[in-house]
Amino acid sequence: MTAVWNAIEQDLKRLRDAGQFKTIKNLTRPMGPVSTIEGVGEVVVLCSNDYLGLANDPEVVEAATAAQRKWGAGTGSVRFICGTFDYHREIEASISKLSGTEASTTYVSCWNANEAVLPTLMAAGGDSVIAISDELNHASIIDAVRLGRQINKASKSKVYKHSDMAALEATLKESAGIEHKIVVTDGVFSMEGDVAHLDKMVPLCEQYGALLIVDDSHGVGVCGPRGLGVAEHQGVHGKIDCMTGTLGKALGGAAGGYIASRKPLVELMVQKSRPQLFSNALPPATAGAANKAIEILLRDTTRVDKLRANVQYMRAGLKSRGFETMDGPSAITPIILGETSKAIAASKRLLELGVFVIGFGYPVVPEGVARLRVQISAAHETSHLDRALDAFSKL
Ligand SMILES: Cc1ncc(COP(=O)(O)O)c(C=O)c1O
Repeated sequence: MTAVWNAIEQDLKRLRDAGQFKTIKNLTRPMGPVSTIEGVGEVVVLCSNDYLGLANDPEVVEAATAAQRKWGAGTGSVRFICGTFDYHREIEASISKLSGTEASTTYVSCWNANEAVLPTLMAAGGDSVIAISDELNHASIIDAVRLGRQINKASKSKVYKHSDMAALEATLKESAGIEHKIVVTDGVFSMEGDVAHLDKMVPLCEQYGALLIVDDSHGVGVCGPRGLGVAEHQGVHGKIDCMTGTLGKALGGAAGGYIASRKPLVELMVQKSRPQLFSNALPPATAGAANKAIEILLRDTTRVDKLRANVQYMRAGLKSRGFETMDGPSAITPIILGETSKAIAASKRLLELGVFVIGFGYPVVPEGVARLRVQISAAHETSHLDRALDAFSKL
């Protein structure tokens, strides 16, 4: 055995010993409000990002199938060689409309979109650039800033305390001598369910000459009167310099990511961002599904309204059963339980009781604030939520 194989075994053992080894569950039915898990049986699903219940919606599935029939399985190419088709133009027009921006471009994931925008902009900033990031930003943003620092060794980065606007302003002030300032935040923070103060960040960034990037992966389809995201919720839709997001959550649950912004920024991504230059384009079925999901979202607010009513119903039900929920404007409802072992045990017991909800502990969240993360969908009917609440009563 080579040393690397030994290291692999040791790393896996460390995970098992630390209780951090994930048991991957195998679903045997399409994503929906209920599903079946191999070896477990039927469960109410409270851990999916399919917030609008579109992942298995007949219109969305038909659009994906039709796109595949028309365009085949894939592009067989990256965008700039021979991998740009009409359907890319169509979905990018929809994304721009949704985001309130001039232009947009797509990637095979939002992870890729974040790893495209930050390093490319940090490189463009030359020897005077700083990326300023919320401490609870998604792993893809953290890694993207790290990559940006590697690619442009002269660049700097700074992390500010979660959603602390005074800390952000202090960092912007300290960075007065740095020509290019980039502030980056999640719209919805996925472990907390709270939202960034975009209403304050937009004027702050304007005042200090910083460019604001918002990853609204968990906010689009959920927050705001029309479900356009956290920016709409806070009255600044169309005023964010650059949006990134996923097509793999509320927007059909398949996959894909995007960057939406003014034309020159999008053009720079098309010209220079490595995850687009060196990785295949979004495939037809994936784009078709997401494009239909956006159409459904923009058509009317039926699903967004139902999602919101479901979130309120579930939170009220949990509270009346003695659970302390963290309430934000998103569809994520964490219940803090304390120790990691407690959260893991609670999620195991809930699974036995027919409810699929994940317990998150250290290192995903800090020690002492391990939690169950309840995620609600517009696909849930009251009967599903009642089934889940009964299980919580027994917990
Ligand atoms: C805030 C945020 N950004 C990016 C991603 C990654 O999205 P994708 O699955 O499209 O790579 C996620 C997914 O968990 C997320 O929560």
